[in-house]
Amino acid sequence: MAFDAEIRQALIDQVRRFVNEKCIPIEGQVAETDEVPQDVVDEMKQLGLFGLAVPEEYGGLGLDMETECLVALELGRTSPAFRSVAGTNIGIGSQALVLFGTEEQKQKWLPGIAAGEYISSFALTEPEAGSDAASLRTKAIRDGDHYVLNGAKRYITNANKAQVFTVMARTDPDTPGAKGVSAFIVDRDTPGITVGKPEKKMGQQGAHACDVIFEDVKVPAENMIGKEGEGFKVAMSVLDKGRLHISAVSTGASERLIKEMVNYAMEREQFGKPIAQHQLIQAMMADSQAETYAARSMILDGARRRDAGENVTMLASSTKLFACEATGRVADRAVQVFGGAGYITDYGIERFYRDVRLFRLYEGTSQIQQIVIARELMKAAKADQL
Ligand code: CAA
Repeated sequence: MAFDAEIRQALIDQVRRFVNEKCIPIEGQVAETDEVPQDVVDEMKQLGLFGLAVPEEYGGLGLDMETECLVALELGRTSPAFRSVAGTNIGIGSQALVLFGTEEQKQKWLPGIAAGEYISSFALTEPEAGSDAASLRTKAIRDGDHYVLNGAKRYITNANKAQVFTVMARTDPDTPGAKGVSAFIVDRDTPGITVGKPEKKMGQQGAHACDVIFEDVKVPAENMIGKEGEGFKVAMSVLDKGRLHISAVSTGASERLIKEMVNYAMEREQFGKPIAQHQLIQAMMADSQAETYAARSMILDGARRRDAGENVTMLASSTKLFACEATGRVADRAVQVFGGAGYITDYGIERFYRDVRLFRLYEGTSQIQQIVIARELMKAAKADQL
């Protein structure tokens, strides 16, 4: 749904207030305890954040992509752990259902996902299938009116809290690669599912990722999302959208880091004047701003094109590549502008430096984005569309 400008601005203002008043003051606490407090999660539910991308008829806010990205830019201005609480419900955990689910599947699962009653996770990655997602080995073998799932998934965000998983599994073990894969919606309470302990990570404390093991898990045949053998395409379509969303979260972090670095540079004095008056510091501030503005422009252009029904595979990968790499450079400069203080935990900059490192890895590494862009370029060239 295209959003009325006033309603959109009111929502963005509300999210900005929530981030400023509720999230930023407890960033250090969340990093230390590795947990986002329940009252903050409850407020996220009240704001409708879990259902941003779920259509209104299933209880969500049904935002268009442009508005979703504007909200994600705001959520990005605090520790990524806060966004991550609702992140899989907004994106990869719900969108297979939104894009390809049957009416029954949508009615059964989406209202709970939108309300934040259930956490939903996306189970694609495996110990031996990361960037090469199409080589996944988890099997789903038909047995009467069920499929029986066996296999292991790795680094599954929010798995420890998930009630429902979108699982990509091989329904045709004799067909290697993408074509033998199907997607399923799997209830956590199905016997045979074990979720591992949250991994210890470089950053993003408060956001969790775990192994998920499937041992003879009987999933009703009606839980298949889309057609048999089309699960890889389902996953890739979900990731096209997710890559725009992650770019927005990452760019929100860039904007926050610019604010921190400029404020600090205007206060901190060396050589008899604020360091912001030194041109080498100005260069770091200016490069960060220029790159972040470029990233924001790419995100909003990609989002508007997706809203208009264009295929955004290449644009989403281009945006994720540029935006997340740019955030890495901005975070590095922020540490540099803060100098020694940038390395000291109390200032919070070193924490952001570690937190944003993940943006260049998940939902496709920068190198995978490069591959996608190059392939799309060649496809377009063959079709004489360049
Ligand atoms: N939309 C729809 N269909 C698509 C598509 C897209 N964006 N991309 C590919 N496909 C289709 C192709 O058209 C092809 O179908 P046909 O054979 O009918 O033409 C099929 O899918 C296979 O595509 P490829 O031949 O391109 O597959 P590939 O194996 O060569 O490579 C890849 C694909 C781009 C490398 C892909 O594996 C990829 O994106 N890898 C990265 C995986 C990834 O992002 N993982 C992140 C996991 S989620 C996460 O990080 C979040 C978390 O919880 C931590």
